Amino acid sequence: MTEATAPTSAMRFDPEIRQRIAAGQTPAISARHLQHYYGTGELSKQVLFDNSLEIYPGEIIIMTGPSGSGKTTLLTLIGTLRQAQEGELFVLGHSLHAATKSGLRALRREIGFIFQAHNLFDSLTATQNVRMALELADPGAGRRAQTTRAQAMLEAVGLGERTGHKPKQLSGGQKQRVAIARGLVHQPRLVLADEPTAALDEASGRQVVELLKKMAKEQQVTIVIVTHDNRILDVADRIVNLVDGSIRSDVLVQETAIVSQMLIKCDVFAHLSPRGLAEMADHLLCETIPAHQTVIREGEAGDKFYLIRTGRVSVQRAAQSQPLAILKEGDFFGEMALLTGQPRNASVVALEETVLYSLSQDKFRQAIAQQASFESEIRRSLFDRQ
Ligand SMILES: Nc1ncnc2c1ncn2[C@@H]1O[C@H](COP(=O)(O)OP(=O)(O)OP(=O)(O)O)[C@@H](O)[C@H]1O
Ligand SMILES: [Mg+2]
Repeated sequence: MTEATAPTSAMRFDPEIRQRIAAGQTPAISARHLQHYYGTGELSKQVLFDNSLEIYPGEIIIMTGPSGSGKTTLLTLIGTLRQAQEGELFVLGHSLHAATKSGLRALRREIGFIFQAHNLFDSLTATQNVRMALELADPGAGRRAQTTRAQAMLEAVGLGERTGHKPKQLSGGQKQRVAIARGLVHQPRLVLADEPTAALDEASGRQVVELLKKMAKEQQVTIVIVTHDNRILDVADRIVNLVDGSIRSDVLVQETAIVSQMLIKCDVFAHLSPRGLAEMADHLLCETIPAHQTVIREGEAGDKFYLIRTGRVSVQRAAQSQPLAILKEGDFFGEMALLTGQPRNASVVALEETVLYSLSQDKFRQAIAQQASFESEIRRSLFDRQ
């Protein structure tokens, strides 16, 4: 029998990832209580505060946030280009604190870096620049094979016609694409990209993003993209928002959309805008209830609202032999006691393993208060029309 899980914060439920966790897959990146300071002594300045994050193989994460919020710093820590002073960081199964110098070098070969400064070699052609990465990562491969791979990679980013050009003969966007090809050519297991599409027009940006998506989905490459470019948001499995050095939100995009659609069917949330729904979804806690376990008990005080993500529950009263109702995916319960302040008027029991989202009484009340102001606003506007 499955154990009930402790509620996990926010939108950390994703059917595929849950399966992988259950199968014992380790995250590609795992940060625990990560802190970072620049400078020492009196000049020391903390820029990352207690950040925890887990990213699984094949996930595409978009990290965003205001300038100076610490995005590049976090990316360089993950990329082993800097060492965090406090907290733990595991990358592709290696603890960065415990790693030796040669261990870190080997690890870096499994990472593809696409950073803002291109650092292309002016004297080398596009192909030669890209091939450099292969020579470092896979020195044993034959030169001709390396050249073929470098050219194929340039082709994939839309630079098939420019393979023999040197950086000076290329536009900013074309140079950026050479840098992208160089970051990807050695088939890294992890790609860290800092504003990869900033210098690109819409079509080239899309081409690069599609390529990253293909790598993630077909080869389980993990991809972290720092960006302000909202044209590429649709590629993200998750959006992580960093503000003032702290992860402010970390949401699964598709899951938020599914849950928002579920919430809107409940009167209490029906007035919320997509943004309001997403915010509400962000406050939900996810828990797994094994079959036959009671979720709420008749007569007890109500403290949460529940939404069924998967599974089925039975609503029953002690005095009655037949259940009052069987609820399934997308149904919700527990709102009556929160609305009326009365004890729970029925018990709810899981009929099978059931995944629930719950919302605290406080957040639930907040939604009602917004609804009240929404309604009074409408009343006023109707009244003013007269
Ligand atoms: N090498 C450094 N030495 C000292 N302070 C630094 C260094 N690099 C960054 N900082 C400071 O750390 C903070 C976070 O910087 P970081 O570059 O990580 O932000 P960012 O979110 O990537 O910003 P942007 O969107 O502008 O690229 C900023 O206050 C910045 O001034
Ligand atoms: Mg930055």
